[in-house]
Amino acid sequence: MATDSISRIGVLTSGGDCAGLNAAIRAVVHRAIQGYGWQVVGILEGTRGLLERPMKTENLGLRIFTGNILRLGGTILGTVNKGDPFNYPLPDGSTADVSQFFIDGVRELGLDALIGIGGDGSMKILSRLAEQGDIPFVGIPKTIDNDVAFTDFSIGFATAVDTAVEAMDRLQPTAASHHRVMILEVMGRDAGHIALNAGIAGGADVILIPEIPYDAEKVAEKIRSLNALGRNHALVICSEAIRLASGSAVFQDQGDGQARYGGVGHVLGQQISDLTGAETRVTVLGHVQRGGIPTSRDRVIASAFGVHAVDLVAAGKTSRMVAWQYREVVDVPLKKVVAQYHNVNIDGALVQAARGLGICLGD
Ligand code: F6P
Repeated sequence: MATDSISRIGVLTSGGDCAGLNAAIRAVVHRAIQGYGWQVVGILEGTRGLLERPMKTENLGLRIFTGNILRLGGTILGTVNKGDPFNYPLPDGSTADVSQFFIDGVRELGLDALIGIGGDGSMKILSRLAEQGDIPFVGIPKTIDNDVAFTDFSIGFATAVDTAVEAMDRLQPTAASHHRVMILEVMGRDAGHIALNAGIAGGADVILIPEIPYDAEKVAEKIRSLNALGRNHALVICSEAIRLASGSAVFQDQGDGQARYGGVGHVLGQQISDLTGAETRVTVLGHVQRGGIPTSRDRVIASAFGVHAVDLVAAGKTSRMVAWQYREVVDVPLKKVVAQYHNVNIDGALVQAARGLGICLGD
């Protein structure tokens, strides 16, 4: 579709919130209005905004963005992580394919293209919807987990890492003062990026990630070796999805029928205490990593992504996702993105750096 046939685009956020989403929405709106003179419709509550009738939308003008929004965590559009239209939960507990509702909604609103800000799950859903409905679509990657393929960084990751590092900075004095092993459990789903990055930056003695199966005895050896050097405290950081020796992960029932990772830090604390006799304490950082003020890095990435996404729509280069690679904003075919998962490269530079620093990775 050529630029001159576009006059109105939609933007939505989908999946778990994170810091920097509003900066991305702001950039999309600025570029679309100032650069091309288009109208921008914000779709509220992710895909759900177009699945209900009346639809939930809001026209987005530059005036909305004159204030504080660049700095705000969360998403002014709202979001859902249970809004898969191909498997949509109904009030009676069953699910249905309501994808055509979404596609009809795009038509009814007169949208010439759609920009979706989401993680790996959302990219799969939104690109499938776009293909089925022949909707010109561009994706912007966001997720604290940083597990979207083909981009070095997703929006929200940098802020989540900084939050975890701050937690490590706050736990270290208590570890030292009380001669304790302090354990910090962080999010990240099946990718260990948050734990690895925050562990290196926060001076962890032990970093456990899902990509490297851990042996509790190796962790205990590390604690004992620190003791032998005269250090009577330690900092441990673990990803929420590390597997126990049985191969299973630890889940928390959130009361909505969907199990979420959480709580493995407590199992680890008990193991360390049993094996070393150390006094352990566990902090599960949880959703603190998702909210808050976006760091400058997340604001910069989000802003550059938003502008590039609109430029792609204008150039008719759709079915693509914007990405950050080697200091540049680039774009990659969505088909390639959704076929891959970006977890920690266990032979990569950061794992090597951690080993080089003498950090125990549990193996
Ligand atoms: O994908 C982002 C994430 O924060 C994961 O790190 C975490 O496992 C999950 O979402 C938590 O989901 P919810 O917000 O539904 O509890």
